[in-house]
Amino acid sequence: MYRSKIAGVGHYVPKNVYTNDDLSRFMETSDAWIQERTGIRERRFADRLEETTTTMGVEAAKVAMERAGITAQEVDFIIFATLSPDYYFPGCGVLLQREMQMREIGALDIRNQCSGFVYALSIADQFVKTGMYKNILVVGSEKHSFAMDFETRSRNVSVIFGDGAGAVVLQRTDKEGQGILSTHLHSDGADAEELAMYYPGAHANKWLKDKPGYPDQELGGLFITKEQIEQGATLPYMDGPAVFKKAVVKFPEVIREALEANGMTAEDIDLLVPHQANLRISQYVQQLLSLPDEKVFNNIQKYGNTTAASVPIALSEAWESGRVKEGDLICLAAFGSGFAWGSALIRW
Ligand code: UT7
Repeated sequence: MYRSKIAGVGHYVPKNVYTNDDLSRFMETSDAWIQERTGIRERRFADRLEETTTTMGVEAAKVAMERAGITAQEVDFIIFATLSPDYYFPGCGVLLQREMQMREIGALDIRNQCSGFVYALSIADQFVKTGMYKNILVVGSEKHSFAMDFETRSRNVSVIFGDGAGAVVLQRTDKEGQGILSTHLHSDGADAEELAMYYPGAHANKWLKDKPGYPDQELGGLFITKEQIEQGATLPYMDGPAVFKKAVVKFPEVIREALEANGMTAEDIDLLVPHQANLRISQYVQQLLSLPDEKVFNNIQKYGNTTAASVPIALSEAWESGRVKEGDLICLAAFGSGFAWGSALIRW
């Protein structure tokens, strides 16, 4: 069995900064409320026309590949995690492949929202371990801003999320004890609707059928009225407190699972890089695991929650600032819509 290591990590964030005060121009909110409940001070929003989930993913990928010392021709497989794809289909993986002029390699899109990157990394790890591929490009990228509503009715969602991309090159290594030690994936669909975007989707007919104007027909029926759009039928829904309560249980659980699987304890962790959902969630997890501040990386203050991009952006920034060094034990963990969650333990 081969082993896999992260040979290069990179990220890209758009240059447009929106502070909490900037958002107060569009909706009833305040810097004090947002900072107190989430820790977020500002976030980046992509250019409305020029930047997409794919283009940001490409920029992050270029950095990761340069740091890994590989060219686009050497990538054997692409895994792209996002909940905000450029098109409903096809996925962003093939768009990135086209943009980067890669060979006719396979491209897989992952739809696991906040835990998408950890899921993608785990899949890549399996492909490398079996010897099927040597270099896999794993990307997490999101352009949330295009689908968010900046009116007061959506303020619990729209103050949290931001745009950006992160990427890693997962590469085969022969070095014993180095690389990904293990990954752990979980889900529980019981509360799938608590953090979801229902439309467009095959289930949306059921949701819309009693609404005025719904066509009485035997087949088809991708249907929505202007009024329903105005009422928010196409907007993401989130029961924030329900997500929060589940997250603070599942984050520590899946981190401990990874540690136990490797005969380690929280004390062995050199750096925990959690999905940046809410600074309060990260701080709670930190407290439960008795980790000192220098062992937990947070950058939600600058970028908000970038969903599938948050873990690789944070990992990339941590690496750039010298907080990820050779031999360090790095723990990645994520939780989000689905609910789906996971962790990865890495000897750098
Ligand atoms: O990555 C995984 C995805 N998501 C998460 O992890 C999110 C987890 N949940 C959270 O982070 C928190 O639940 C939120 C930050 C989303 C909300 O914080 P909360 O402390 O749970 O607030 P809440 O939803 O219980 O709302 C409390 C009050 C409400 O007003 P009333 O009903 O008490 O008068 C909301 O209308 O705060 C109000 N509110 C706001 N006020 C100002 C909600 N959003 C805002 C806002 N600005 N942006």
